Amino acid sequence: MTHSSTLYRASILHFSQTTHNIGDQGDYFADGALIVQNARIVAVGHFSELAPDYATSVLVDYRNRLIIPGLIDSHLHYPQTEMIAKYGEQLLTWLENFTFPTEQKFESYTYCELMAKHFVTQLINNGTTTAFAYSSVHKHAADALFIEASKHNMAMISGKVCMDRHCPDALKDTPASAQRDSEDLINKWHGKGRNLYALTPRFAPTSSHEQLSLLGELAQQYPDVFIQTHLSENQSEIDWVKSLFPKQKSYLDVYDHYNMVRPRALFGHCLHLEQQDWQRLAEAKATAVFCPTSNLFLGSGLFNLKEAQANDVSIALATDVGGGTSFNMLRTYGEAYKIGQLQNNPLSALEGLYLMTQGPALAYSMADEIGNLNPGTFADFVVLDPHFNQLAELRMANFESGEDILFALSFIGDERAVEATYIAGKQCKV
Ligand code: GUN
Ligand code: ZN
Repeated sequence: MTHSSTLYRASILHFSQTTHNIGDQGDYFADGALIVQNARIVAVGHFSELAPDYATSVLVDYRNRLIIPGLIDSHLHYPQTEMIAKYGEQLLTWLENFTFPTEQKFESYTYCELMAKHFVTQLINNGTTTAFAYSSVHKHAADALFIEASKHNMAMISGKVCMDRHCPDALKDTPASAQRDSEDLINKWHGKGRNLYALTPRFAPTSSHEQLSLLGELAQQYPDVFIQTHLSENQSEIDWVKSLFPKQKSYLDVYDHYNMVRPRALFGHCLHLEQQDWQRLAEAKATAVFCPTSNLFLGSGLFNLKEAQANDVSIALATDVGGGTSFNMLRTYGEAYKIGQLQNNPLSALEGLYLMTQGPALAYSMADEIGNLNPGTFADFVVLDPHFNQLAELRMANFESGEDILFALSFIGDERAVEATYIAGKQCKV
């Protein structure tokens, strides 16, 4: 059945180019029109130019609002939603004291269903329409998240966490069960609707050589499946990896040894890398995921954006909830900006937007589906209200440009600034 089209009138900002360039200035339409039909975008441009051609479309008037593409959060943990903001630990004791006990609750499928619902609600309320979400070790926890995401026709990329050592017994799988369960989940979910699968070894310390080796085999067998893991986040973690894998040149080299450094491999954190690691990430077309709120909250370190850019590594922004302290990607960019300031290398709001939309979409070969507002892509978009509260109203009196709106909302905004979140053409935010 074909539906009539809808014309959304608003200011519009996105990146239409399909060549990778973090310095891209984007396409801005102060009085813009976005035409949507059957879940996909049909046209985008100036209202005055498009309106005559779509005179019969249903008109939705979002004047004085800013439409941007649906946001991509490239790294976070759905079981950690309820343990966001736990005081005082760094990575390894934080995992032991808070994370592992929380993730044990996902033994119960009913609990998974409940938390998947809360998690997806948080994403939608904050304008995130695509997420790379770690599940727990339990196979059914991944099912619960994919089922919940499917209700919204959302592009969800997730995977069962694999870990067979250095964690509580209740959270351990085995090399064979990790391989079997991951493969079952790939067959069940990868490409089903908008869902995609990510092989998810938690990090090198919690996987045996045998487990990494079997997961590496799966990675080779399924080259278009994603891989997500943690890399070089915390100094004690790095020392530990050195002692567990003495033969490997570096932490990244552990994953490389098991064939997991390749396109569609996402490495969370990448804080304390050697020059050779940056080069290897670039050469392999893997992605370094910058998680600013988490890196500050867990006292892990400052992401070296200059080095990543100098080596032409694909970079993506992410919240890393619950090590990260906000589901809001704009707030997350705001913290990335502050980290850049400390290094005399501030990241502009346009660059920030790029790292949560078109940048990762291109890096993951998904730009004909998500990341921009080009005709043919899914109608995943966010309507921001720059006047959502009194302070924003005052600040907007000095408004300069679409980029200025985004910048201000990245510091003074929150989910209240997200007026609507559309996924595949449907308003999902309630
Ligand atoms: N390294 C291994 N597991 C985790 C996790 O759950 N969160 C973070 N931030 N780092 C990790
Ligand atoms: Zn993480």
